Amino acid sequence: MQKIVILTGAGISAESGLATFRDAGGLWAQHRIEDVATPDAFARDPERVHAFYNARRAQADEVQPNAAHQALARLQAEHSGEVVIVTQNVDALHEAAGARDVIHMHGELARALCAACGERWPVTGDISPAEACPACAARACRPDVVWFGEIPYRMDEILNHLQGAEIFAAIGTSGEVYPAAGFAQEAAGHGAHCVEINLEASAVSRDFDEARQGRASEMVPAWVAEVLGG
Ligand code: APR
Repeated sequence: MQKIVILTGAGISAESGLATFRDAGGLWAQHRIEDVATPDAFARDPERVHAFYNARRAQADEVQPNAAHQALARLQAEHSGEVVIVTQNVDALHEAAGARDVIHMHGELARALCAACGERWPVTGDISPAEACPACAARACRPDVVWFGEIPYRMDEILNHLQGAEIFAAIGTSGEVYPAAGFAQEAAGHGAHCVEINLEASAVSRDFDEARQGRASEMVPAWVAEVLGG
């Protein structure tokens, strides 16, 4: 049974209305990473960091999955082998489209993390550093988002999936951020056929057997139809 592992990035949610990070006008053009997306930034100014993620949570609550998210959920439902979706995205659009067991390697806007004890819990709306942890009652609440300098979630599990994949596809990601940017090399090293679907060439396009350029909402449904049909 053919196992497929998919990595998604901000580009898959762009057509739903969520800004990417590195495109012109993207989030990192409007905010400095060192102000909002590092442990130091949070230690210095937790209110500012919460404000950034509260705004993103509010925005993510307003948008709908697009044809690319829907196509991946269809692939998961209809493919005879296992389909694992790993996402760098902190939105819940894969789940909203019906995808199952999505691995959020960079965390989720819909969860908070206790910086004191590591408890993670579901949240809606705005959160603040003063919110008490449901497990230890510390007031050290932070967004459950993996920042620069932190280790992504579930890496052992992801590496196992990559090593067992027959097809690896990366969708809507610039290939600028490791370890995700190294996934194609890892999967290819274990024999996977690697496909990149992105608006433009990424920083790691050379690691893929095929690089397809175009909008995720068009390219992903076409690719899924090919995989299911072939
Ligand atoms: N269809 C396909 N690709 C698109 C689309 C689209 N409609 N719109 C944009 N893209 C592509 C861009 O060309 C770009 O290469 O998506 C990619 C998005 O890249 P980034 O903004 O760098 O996002 P991502 O790769 O997910 O970033 C990785 O960096 O700061 C972080 O933690 C954050 O998870 C994020 C990580």
